Order: sequence, then structure tokens, then C-alpha cells
Amino acid sequence: MKNFHKMRGWNLPLFKNTMMISGLLCLVLFFAGSAHAAEAEAAELGSEDKACQSCHDSDAIKAKITEAGESLSMRISTQAFLASMHNETSCTDCHEDADGKDHGKVSVPMKSKRDYRLSFQDSCTTCHKKSVAEFKDSVHAILVKEGSDKAPTCSDCHNPHTVRSVKLVEPIANVPCANCHKDIFKAYSQDVHGLERVAKGKSAPLCADCHKSHAIQAASLGDGIRDACLTCHKDAAVQHEVWLPNSRLHFKSIECQVCHAPNAQRRVNLRMVDSVGGKQLVEQEGAPRFERLSKAVDGTDRNLNESEMRGFLKAFNLESPDNKAVLSARLELSSGLEAHQLSTKDLALKDCQVCHRAGAAPFSSVILTMAGSNGRALRQGIDNKVLTSATSFDSLRGFYAIGSTRIKLLDYLLVLVILGVLCVPIAHLTVNRLFKAKRDKLRSERQQASTK
Ligand code: HEC
Ligand code: HEC
Ligand code: HEC
Ligand code: HEC
Ligand code: HEC
Ligand code: HEC
Ligand code: HEC
Ligand code: HEC
Ligand code: HEC
Repeated sequence: MKNFHKMRGWNLPLFKNTMMISGLLCLVLFFAGSAHAAEAEAAELGSEDKACQSCHDSDAIKAKITEAGESLSMRISTQAFLASMHNETSCTDCHEDADGKDHGKVSVPMKSKRDYRLSFQDSCTTCHKKSVAEFKDSVHAILVKEGSDKAPTCSDCHNPHTVRSVKLVEPIANVPCANCHKDIFKAYSQDVHGLERVAKGKSAPLCADCHKSHAIQAASLGDGIRDACLTCHKDAAVQHEVWLPNSRLHFKSIECQVCHAPNAQRRVNLRMVDSVGGKQLVEQEGAPRFERLSKAVDGTDRNLNESEMRGFLKAFNLESPDNKAVLSARLELSSGLEAHQLSTKDLALKDCQVCHRAGAAPFSSVILTMAGSNGRALRQGIDNKVLTSATSFDSLRGFYAIGSTRIKLLDYLLVLVILGVLCVPIAHLTVNRLFKAKRDKLRSERQQASTK
């Protein structure tokens, strides 16, 4: 108690100071508060915008009928606009031509909704240079440029009058992609990620986490999606290695969804790649080769047989002296839809025999592909006997691996597997051999433990 009095006495001047400081603080807070209030007021319409909204948010405003016969509502909700990320942007920042004298009094013809939307394609550039640059070479942007009336521009995915922060966790049905890719959205919403996203919010991927939001590429090209899987599932290689020998090699030759969409149809994709850099070849603009040359060797719509494929590759390489095409094979799903039916790990494909046996189903369907000049995949059916013909191994580098630098017993094993010769005993022998070192180590550790 004594100490307390002493302390209070000693503290008295300090106490006064504290009062003063608190007073000041209150004042500061008061001003800060009113500054905040002012900011909130700024989220009210400016006078110019108010004038627009006197018509555009009134019950009197009628929908406009386009020349294509569609009805387009002219009503803009002030409330939604003020709650949007554009609440500090003025109507005329985007609609420069809307404050003319005749505006609203004289009806201006509008061809179609799509046409009107397309006229705004460049209107976001001044403020969102980064997004515009990302979008520029995407499969969607190229389709729009080619005249597609279905591919999205900015405002198909972002309503400029109601756009909300991308940081908000919205219900998955609000993802803009769902409007157009309905079947895929439906599949996704029932798969392991869709369900996880609904249950737990942010961590499981939405469309854009695997495909990107703006720089979207054709899904079957490149390795971008697998790399996206591996940015979240960082330990995947290590986790698979426990039961899957050389998991990194398997990841290279098999797309993740091949094992994780357990009931899907699978096929071999022979990708045409550069013999030097290993990059996937892209069709030339203006002088396309793929379709013309594949038609030339076959003419009909049948799958190319072995000699036709060789003829095709030869002709292709004659016309492209700089980058010689070789083939790099990959197991993928036959349908992009099924890539969105991933299941939990207990249902994943673990049975080696599904692939490592003669006549394995995934090897019965084969396609040849390269990237089209518009960024979409070009495909040609191939007779599956091509895989078992020794002559075609020459160009299949890195899959069955004959002729590559990785000649090991195991590579031959795979060839044998494909050829259907003695595959099962050899596979077991080799897998046994692979694990022999591990087993020996385990055994000696166990022995050491028991002698202790
Ligand atoms: C950030 C840019 C932007 C701002 C700000 C903006 N708009 Fe728009 N507005 C657009 C675009 C883009 C379209 C093209 C239609 C589309 O793609 O949906 C459009 C279309 C419209 C339409 C035609 C109907 C429709 O929905 O397509 C009206 C009416 C309209 N805007 C009024 C307004 C008014 C009024 C304001 C201010 C309160 C405003 N806009 C603010 C970009 C903007
Ligand atoms: C006097 C009422 C009125 C005012 C004020 C008004 N609008 Fe309009 N606006 C209309 C009507 C009516 C239409 C439909 C005209 C038609 O059918 O062609 C329209 C159409 C539009 C369209 C659709 C494209 C077009 O040209 O048909 C846009 C965008 C638009 N207004 C933006 C604005 C903006 C921005 C402002 C404020 C600067 C504004 N309006 C002020 C009545 C008004
Ligand atoms: C196919 C749909 C789609 C199109 C087309 C699209 N966006 Fe986006 N955009 C998205 C998605 C989805 C996100 C959210 C990304 C995320 O959550 O990481 C996004 C995010 C954004 C952001 C927030 C910053 C960022 O990059 O995360 C801005 C700004 C933006 N978009 C502007 C634009 C502009 C401008 C265009 C046209 C050039 C455009 N968008 C075209 C889907 C699209
Ligand atoms: C006059 C400048 C301006 C124009 C033009 C404009 N915006 Fe914006 N936009 C902004 C501002 C300011 C924000 C607030 C957040 C920020 O700084 O990114 C914003 C935010 C956004 C966001 C949300 C970003 C986020 O981080 O959540 C999207 C999406 C967006 N705008 C899309 C568009 C689209 C699509 C267009 C063209 C139809 C467009 N904007 C045109 C100024 C503009
Ligand atoms: C977990 C990652 C992932 C998510 C999330 C995802 N996708 Fe995919 N998507 C893929 C994979 C993998 C493929 C197939 C790639 C291939 O063909 O090799 C694919 C293929 C596609 C294709 C091409 C289909 C075809 O027939 O060739 C479209 C379109 C697509 N996705 C859209 C979407 C949309 C829309 C969403 C959200 C509803 C979505 N994706 C969510 C991974 C994903
Ligand atoms: C306005 C409609 C529309 C919206 C919105 C849209 N797309 Fe697309 N998308 C298309 C069209 C049309 C194609 C061309 C191929 C087709 O018909 O499926 C396409 C193609 C694609 C492809 C390439 C398919 C292939 O050949 O491999 C992918 C991947 C894709 N979209 C993903 C997305 C994602 C992710 C979103 C959302 C961020 C999205 N799309 C939003 C219309 C749309
Ligand atoms: C050869 C088939 C196969 C391939 C290819 C494959 N997986 Fe798996 N994956 C499985 C099986 C089987 C399991 C379950 C293993 C077990 O029994 O624990 C699994 C488990 C997983 C798990 C759960 C891990 C854990 O232990 O919790 C994730 C995540 C996963 N895989 C992601 C991937 C990704 C990402 C890829 C592509 C880079 C991939 N997988 C490629 C078959 C495969
Ligand atoms: C944005 C991060 C993200 C991306 C990208 C992503 N995943 Fe996932 N994934 C998750 C989360 C979160 C879960 C649920 C929690 C868990 O099991 O790890 C999950 C679950 C899984 C599971 C179920 C694992 C189990 O324990 O049963 C598999 C299999 C899987 N993902 C495979 C993939 C594949 C294949 C891809 C690429 C096509 C991919 N993921 C892309 C985050 C991601
Ligand atoms: C979905 C099909 C698939 C499944 C399931 C699968 N593999 Fe493979 N495996 C392949 C393919 C394709 C290759 C060829 C990789 C290459 O050479 O590019 C391969 C390669 C191998 C190799 C050679 C590795 C090297 O170092 O050269 C071994 C060994 C092997 N697999 C064993 C197994 C075992 C054991 C299992 C089961 C636990 C299994 N695989 C499951 C498709 C599969």
C-alpha cells in the first residue's frame, strides 16, 4: 500500500501528461475519424455521376432493344456501383461520349449486345495495363480477335458496374468461368477441389489457380497446369516416391489427372517437339503445315499408320529446316471434362498393371499434336500400332526412350512391355531389383536393432 502511494505521488506529473496526451489523442482520433467519414462520403456519387443516375437508376428508364432484337437493361444500380471497386471511378471515365446534349433524348441504334461489349475492349487499358497485357495473348483474346462471338472480353468476366475485390471469397458459382464452361464447372464443383473449396474457403483451387485468370492457354499445351498442381502440392514427388519408382519421371510422362480421375478414358499424346530445345512446336502463321501434310499422306480421315506417320514427319521436317520435329509422348485423358473429376487419394490409380502390361488400355488410343498458331491444339489420330513398331521409336525420345541418352535396362523393359514380350516377369524382376538395395538396407538395420 505504502509503495502504491509513493508510486502514485511519484507518478502524478506523469499522470497529468498522460491526460494531456490522451486528450490530444482523442483530438487526433476525432480528425482521423472525420477524415474517414469524408472518405466514406467520397464513396457517394460525384455530382456528374448523380446526374447520370437521375435517369439510369430511375424506374422510368426503359430497356434498349438492339437491332438483333435483344433487350438490354439501361438501369445501373447506384447501390451496387457504390459498393463496387469502381466507386471512385466516374461514369464518364469509361463513357466519355455519354454527356452530349442529345444523350438519352435521341435513341442511338445498337447492333447487338455483343457488338456493344466489343466496342469497350480497349476501355480498361488506361487503368489496368498489367491485366490487359496478360490477357493479350491468351486463348480467349485470340479467339475474340478471330471473330468468335462466344469468347470473353474483360467485361464478360468483370461487370464494370458491380465488380468486387478479387480478394473476397465468393461462392464458387460466382466464378465468371461458370457462365460459359457450364459442364466443366458442374464437374469441378463435385470434385475433390470443388468440395474442399466449398467446405473450407480459400485454399483449394478455383479455375484461375490452375489455368491463370488472364493468360489462359489451351489446356493440353505446355506443362503449366502440372506446374500449378506442384506449387500447391509441393511434396507430391516425395510422397509418390514411397510406392512409385522414379516418380519424377512418371510425372513427366503422365499427367496428374490420369491417375487422379480414376474412371476416365486415357490415351497417348505424341507431342511434336523441337529436337534441340525439347519445346513444343507451334504452327507457323500464314503457312500452316500440320493439317495439309497430314492430309497429304492420308487423304481420308483415318488414323495415320506407321509409314504414313513417318512420311508426315519427313515432309514436315523438310519444310521446317530450323527446328526438326521429334516426338515426346505423354499419357493424358481423352476428355478435358474428366480432368475436373479428381477424387480423393484412396481412389487414385495405383495398379502398375494398368499401364505396365501388354495391350494396356491407355496405349490403345494415340494422337499426334502440335500447338496451332491461334494457341489451340491441332490433333491427328494415329494408329496405335505405331507404338509397337520398332522403327518409330527413333523419334519417340524420352518416353520409351530407345535412341535417347537414357538407355538403361528399365527403358528396354518399357519397350518390351509395349511389345508385349515377357512383360510381367521382367517387370517384377526389375522392380524387385530396384528395391533390392532398399530392402537390404532395411534388413541390416533390423538385424542391428535386434542384436542390440
Ligand atoms: C470502369 C468503367 C465503367 C464505369 C466506371 C461505368 N461503366 Fe457503364 N459500361 C462499361 C462497359 C465496359 C459497358 C459495356 C457493356 C458490358 O460489357 O456489359 C458499360 C455499359 C453501360 C450501359 C449499357 C447497359 C449495360 O449494362 O451494358 C449503361 C447504361 C452504362 N454503362 C451506364 C453507366 C453509368 C450511369 C455509370 C456511372 C454510374 C457507368 N456506366 C460507369 C464500363 C463502365
Ligand atoms: C435524361 C436522362 C439521361 C441522363 C441524364 C443520362 N442518360 Fe444515359 N441514357 C439514357 C437513355 C434514355 C438511354 C437509352 C438511349 C437509347 O435508347 O439509345 C441512355 C443510354 C446510355 C448508355 C448506353 C449506350 C447508348 O449510348 O445507348 C450509356 C453507356 C449511358 N446512357 C451512360 C450515361 C452516362 C455516363 C450519363 C451521365 C454522364 C448518362 N448516361 C446520363 C438516359 C439518360
Ligand atoms: C476469362 C475471365 C476473365 C477475363 C476475360 C478477364 N479477367 Fe480479370 N480476372 C479474372 C479472374 C478470375 C480474376 C481473379 C484472379 C485471382 O483471384 O487471382 C481476375 C482479376 C482481375 C484484376 C485484379 C488484379 C489481378 O490480376 O488479380 C483486374 C484489375 C482485372 N482482372 C482486370 C481485367 C481486365 C482489364 C481484363 C481485360 C483485358 C480482364 N480482367 C479480363 C477473370 C477474367
Ligand atoms: C479510370 C480508371 C479505371 C478504368 C477505365 C477501369 N478501372 Fe477497374 N479499377 C479502377 C480502380 C481505381 C480500381 C480499384 C482498385 C485498384 O486500384 O485496382 C479498379 C478495380 C478493378 C477490379 C478489381 C481489382 C481488385 O484488385 O479486386 C477489376 C476486376 C477491374 N477494376 C476491372 C476493370 C475492367 C474490366 C475495366 C474495363 C471495362 C476497368 N476496370 C476499367 C480504375 C479503373
Ligand atoms: C486442379 C486444377 C484445375 C482446376 C481447378 C480447373 N481446371 Fe480446367 N483443366 C485442368 C486440367 C488438368 C485440364 C486438362 C488438360 C489437358 O487436356 O491436358 C483442364 C482442361 C480445361 C479445359 C479444356 C477442356 C477441353 O475439352 O479440352 C477448359 C475449358 C477448362 N479446363 C476450364 C476450367 C474451368 C472453367 C474451371 C473452373 C470451373 C477449371 N477448368 C478448373 C485443370 C484444372
Ligand atoms: C464468355 C464466355 C467465356 C468465359 C466467361 C470463359 N470462357 Fe474459356 N473459353 C470460351 C470459349 C468460347 C472457348 C473456346 C473453346 C470452347 O468452345 O470451349 C474457351 C476456351 C477456354 C480454354 C481453352 C480450351 C482448350 O482448347 O484447351 C480454357 C482453358 C478456358 N477457356 C478456361 C476458362 C477459364 C479458366 C475461365 C474463367 C477464368 C473462362 N475460360 C471463362 C468462353 C468463355
Ligand atoms: C501413376 C499414378 C499417379 C500419378 C501420375 C500421380 N499420382 Fe498422385 N497419387 C496416386 C496414388 C495412387 C495416390 C495415393 C497414394 C497412397 O496410397 O497414399 C496419390 C496421392 C496423391 C496426393 C495425396 C498425397 C498424400 O499422401 O496425402 C496428392 C496431393 C497427389 N497424389 C497429387 C498428385 C499430383 C499433383 C500429381 C502430378 C504431378 C500426381 N499426384 C500424379 C497416383 C498418382
Ligand atoms: C491452389 C492450390 C491447389 C492447386 C493448384 C491444386 N490443388 Fe489439389 N488440393 C488442394 C487442397 C487445399 C486440397 C485439399 C486438402 C488436401 O488434401 O491437401 C487438395 C486436394 C487434392 C487431392 C486429394 C488428396 C487427398 O488427400 O485425398 C488430390 C489428388 C489433388 N489435390 C490433386 C491435384 C492435382 C492433380 C492438381 C493439378 C491438376 C491440383 N491438385 C492442384 C490445393 C491445390
Ligand atoms: C498410368 C500409367 C502408369 C502407372 C499406373 C505406372 N506406370 Fe510406371 N511408367 C509409365 C510410363 C508411361 C513410363 C515411361 C516413362 C518414360 O520413359 O518416359 C513408366 C516408367 C516406369 C519405370 C521406369 C523408370 C525409369 O527410371 O526409367 C518403372 C520402373 C516403372 N514405371 C514402374 C512402375 C511401378 C512399379 C508402378 C506401380 C507402383 C508403375 N510404374 C505405375 C506408366 C505408368
